[in-house]
Amino acid sequence: MKVSIVGTGYVGLVTGLCLAELGNEVVCIDVVPAKVKSIMEGRAPIYEPGIDGLLERNLRSGRFRATMDMGEVAATDVTFIAVGTPSREDGSLDLEYVKGAAEDIGRALASKEGYHVVVVKSTVTPTTTDTVVGPIVEKASGKRIGDGLGIASNPEFLKEGMAIEDFMHPDRVVIGASDAKAAEVVRSLYSSFDCPVVEVPTATAEMIKVASNSFLATKISFVNEVGNICKDMGIDMRQVAEGMGLDPRIGKQFLRAGCGFGGSCFPKDVSGLVAEAERRGIRPSVMKAALEVNARQPLRLLELLDRRMDVQGRTVAVLGLAFKPFTDDIREASSLKIVAGLLERGAQVRAYDPKAMDNFRNVHPEVTYCSSAKECLEGADAAVIVTEWPEFAPPELYGDMLVVDGRGVTRTSNYEGICW
Ligand SMILES: NC(=O)c1ccc[n+]([C@@H]2O[C@H](COP(=O)([O-])OP(=O)(O)OC[C@H]3O[C@@H](n4cnc5c(N)ncnc54)[C@H](O)[C@@H]3O)[C@@H](O)[C@H]2O)c1
Repeated sequence: MKVSIVGTGYVGLVTGLCLAELGNEVVCIDVVPAKVKSIMEGRAPIYEPGIDGLLERNLRSGRFRATMDMGEVAATDVTFIAVGTPSREDGSLDLEYVKGAAEDIGRALASKEGYHVVVVKSTVTPTTTDTVVGPIVEKASGKRIGDGLGIASNPEFLKEGMAIEDFMHPDRVVIGASDAKAAEVVRSLYSSFDCPVVEVPTATAEMIKVASNSFLATKISFVNEVGNICKDMGIDMRQVAEGMGLDPRIGKQFLRAGCGFGGSCFPKDVSGLVAEAERRGIRPSVMKAALEVNARQPLRLLELLDRRMDVQGRTVAVLGLAFKPFTDDIREASSLKIVAGLLERGAQVRAYDPKAMDNFRNVHPEVTYCSSAKECLEGADAAVIVTEWPEFAPPELYGDMLVVDGRGVTRTSNYEGICW
């Protein structure tokens, strides 16, 4: 199939490359010239395990390319919208990029003859595909849904750091489509996958995505809250989680206590559902509590450090800046609050992350960036571990320096765990 993807970030690029790998002809479109240039030169603008090989292979095969020309949409059969949907000030999802993409796609389709499906892959407030995207594309293209135009929601569940693996081996594919023909086009793209395909109304598909993220975020905040109680009672939350996880109703995953969740999805998707609920006069108490716990959790790491040391005028090594390992993404990362808190306290901050330092430097140029964990720890008075990169595990890295571990990465002689 000929596929176009509007928005070539973490989701758009991975989706495009994976669909090309599956044998489709893909063009990824973005508005940022440097991204398109870098992709066409074979350099992925993001870090994601396996992405360079996938990019190289699919550029070489001619099945994949990137462009800034929206007009290319018209030469394809199906277009995915994978632009960002960041939080607005009031917590609701900002749909401006989605609207802009829908408008551009509609205009490009005005000159196209033949059937076309527009698929919303971005995470959106439920009903957006039907009430916002559909009408915009119809108006700009002059086509009618059900007559030359199909519209669908196909939310993405990939995790950064495992994005290619997740895309190629999903737990489920969720499709909400305007009609059977549009559903068939989307389903056929995933026909080689051995997983359940959930076909539901478009708003249901959208809600499956935001409810899943809200549930997972709530699970993390619940575990962190219990972990904070455990810490105070001298109980190791990691052992508690192991015992809890053996109950299949609870499950082993997402039971790791730590210094909070971040990233471009959980915080904004929970906030988005909270805002939508409140707009409708519904009180989303559980999800609000999940956000509250998460806002405080990075600060607990600093409180533990404060109990052991006055950091003013001292040097603190921050290990890990990405919101999780195996990504360079620092959006909403706990490291942002932790570094800001250390600087407020008058500490000298040295930092190291294997992949995220360039992104972090844009926000905090005053921090000293190091080329390895070892170098970062040299001359430091204390270390805080914020991201669970495996390279932070060897205890000998730290000697007898105070280590405040926000992720359960290591165990040293002078050690404070966040929930254990
Ligand atoms: N990152 C994840 O792990 C993840 C996982 C599942 C779902 N999602 C959802 O997918 C969506 C995209 O997330 P992301 O992390 O890939 O975002 P991103 O910021 O990495 O990428 C978005 C891209 O869209 C481009 N863009 C914006 N407006 C455009 C337009 N009109 N035309 C063409 N390109 C345009 C931007 O330049 C950017 O490159 C969001 O809704 C997000 O919630 C993200």
